[in-house]
Amino acid sequence: MRHLSKVVLRPLAAGLALATVGMVAVHAEDAKKADAKPDPALANQLNPNDKSAELDEKLLAKDAAVKVEDGKYFDAAGSPTFHITDNGKKVDWYTYSGYRRYHAECHVCHGPDGMGSTYAPALKDSLKTLSYEEFVGIVVGGKQDVNSSTQKVMPAFGDNKNVTCYMDDLYVYLKARASGALGRVRPGDKEDKPEAARKAEKECLGG
Ligand code: HEC
Repeated sequence: MRHLSKVVLRPLAAGLALATVGMVAVHAEDAKKADAKPDPALANQLNPNDKSAELDEKLLAKDAAVKVEDGKYFDAAGSPTFHITDNGKKVDWYTYSGYRRYHAECHVCHGPDGMGSTYAPALKDSLKTLSYEEFVGIVVGGKQDVNSSTQKVMPAFGDNKNVTCYMDDLYVYLKARASGALGRVRPGDKEDKPEAARKAEKECLGG
């Protein structure tokens, strides 16, 4: 039974990954059309007193939002990104939601705040180099490092809607951790939940 469900779910997971990559392509097109320079109005305002934030200026520049669409921010490559204001006290909805989802679904293995554990890598480091597409692929399909000395298994979450419906949320939260935009803090204030997020969530969880 366990075996069978795995075989059936694989193509589903692959389909989902493809659909997501398709969406990314559309966003990338949009971003190219728009002037892909960071918009000063969208600049991040980080908390200078948060010593747990390991700032990476290069990543901060790369992850800078160049546009916002229904409360979701996008970088120059067209991938979702974080948006932090009010001296680091306020985050966009998706970063906040990603923080919550991460600590519900991922932190048991990857440690609080993406810090890693003896079992699983620190995602605050992994996300310095993983692309959006790679991230989605691993979360949907899983990853293993199993040999005679190690038994490390990242489960495939392709059939878990508590994860797949919040993929962008998880990604932008971990990007904020990777660039140091967000330290080891629970996000305080947040932007209102966008109507688009409400709608997408309903469709994703219900369908
Ligand atoms: C049961 C434990 C477990 C859970 C729960 C888990 N992971 Fe993992 N994850 C792992 C392990 C172990 C690896 C390393 C696999 C390897 O070495 O090939 C990993 C690897 C990864 C990688 C690749 C990191 C890299 O540097 O290559 C990503 C991305 C990732 N996990 C994301 C997530 C996200 C997001 C969640 C929550 C939705 C999550 N994981 C939940 C165990 C877990």
